[in-house]
Amino acid sequence: MERIQKLVEEHVGYLIVFTLLVVSVAMLAEILPLMFQRSTTQPVAGVKPFTALQLTGRDIYIREGCYNCHSQMIRPFRAETERYGHYSVAGESVYDHPFLWGSKRTGPDLARVGGRYSDEWHRVHLINPRDVVSESNMPAFPWLARNLADADSVQAKMRALRLVGVPYSDEEIAKAKSEVEGKSEMDALVTYLQGLGLALKNTR
Ligand code: HEC
Repeated sequence: MERIQKLVEEHVGYLIVFTLLVVSVAMLAEILPLMFQRSTTQPVAGVKPFTALQLTGRDIYIREGCYNCHSQMIRPFRAETERYGHYSVAGESVYDHPFLWGSKRTGPDLARVGGRYSDEWHRVHLINPRDVVSESNMPAFPWLARNLADADSVQAKMRALRLVGVPYSDEEIAKAKSEVEGKSEMDALVTYLQGLGLALKNTR
């Protein structure tokens, strides 16, 4: 044993070979099992893929840049959980592609805003935030109520999400278009917001 140690310590070539050996064994033990796992993060009980209308609303949320001012990530600190509810866990975001955790908070975190206000509150707020929160500096999004939601692309989006592991059934995809048709962008966005964070509902 001592002889080996001396050899390794005195010859840098051996040292490199042994170091690589140790690191590769460790990597095999760490990385190999992950290759045989379908997913490293299990969904939290009750977390379901977004419905066709929620998915459409989510894309409007992205298009309008809501994530520039709103995070969807409650940190595990007292001040956060008192205000927003249970901190966010990875298993809640398994169907979020791309995730919208964010970090910039000009406005409040929205990870658990679902059910906090009525649909009507959201509509009034999005058309003109000052009507419900007088000191608000959130921009108004009045066109959402006038624009029809895009029903033509939702099936393609769901098929694409299925490729990355979101378990949509053929049946859900088949009726997706009719679920979005005739709905306004406002309907879609409010439906999306009202579904946020319900699986681990806040403990306030
Ligand atoms: C320029 C920054 C900014 C942008 C962009 C923005 N917001 Fe806000 N938002 C705020 C601020 C500030 C507040 C807090 C005052 C208020 O309630 O209006 C807020 C509040 C909210 C609330 C109420 C949250 C709560 O818990 O009280 C919701 C819901 C919301 N925003 C949704 C959205 C959506 C959806 C979009 C995109 C269409 C959006 N916001 C875009 C700044 C922004």
